[in-house]
Amino acid sequence: MKQTVAAAWVLTVILALALAGPAIAADMPGPDPAALWNYITQVSPYQKWGMWPDHQGFQPGRAPHGPIHKVFVNEAALKAEKPPLPYGSIQVKENYTADKKLAAITVMYKVKGYNPGDGDWFWAKYSPDGKAEPFGKPAGCISCHGTRAKNDFVLVHDF
Ligand code: HEC
Repeated sequence: MKQTVAAAWVLTVILALALAGPAIAADMPGPDPAALWNYITQVSPYQKWGMWPDHQGFQPGRAPHGPIHKVFVNEAALKAEKPPLPYGSIQVKENYTADKKLAAITVMYKVKGYNPGDGDWFWAKYSPDGKAEPFGKPAGCISCHGTRAKNDFVLVHDF
């Protein structure tokens, strides 16, 4: 009898996980620039996210991203203690001119199976009003960030 009860519990847990898994994933956008923009501005506005503990607020930056920036990181990414970051991780970088005018928003979004050879990141550079160019797997983004492939292509945070 005890065994039957235990088995029933195990089955219930497995069922619950099977149902919850897709429900969580369904909340996330696909590797698509418009869907991702909608997600980070409407569904889960990135300005409410956290930041890496070693990269808070305005920070000086290098080319090509511009002289100053802020990097916002979603909860999935912030939980990561070591690379690689979990699927669903998003980093949003606001790039400003020297006089603090928002010039571009560059995003990295980790999507399972999207680009396994290069960390499964979906890349996009948006204008402040949400037009993406380039996006997807741009060789430029990947070659620069790829110098730190062991840090899962992340440049502003050391694990
Ligand atoms: C010439 C090299 C170079 C290229 C090309 C480049 N990046 Fe970066 N990226 C950097 C550097 C350096 C940083 C660290 C912050 C800084 O200096 O601005 C960075 C930081 C970032 C961050 C903050 C998270 C992190 O990884 O540290 C994001 C997001 C980002 N870049 C996205 C992109 C996207 C999207 C593209 C392509 C459209 C791109 N980058 C192209 C050099 C590059």
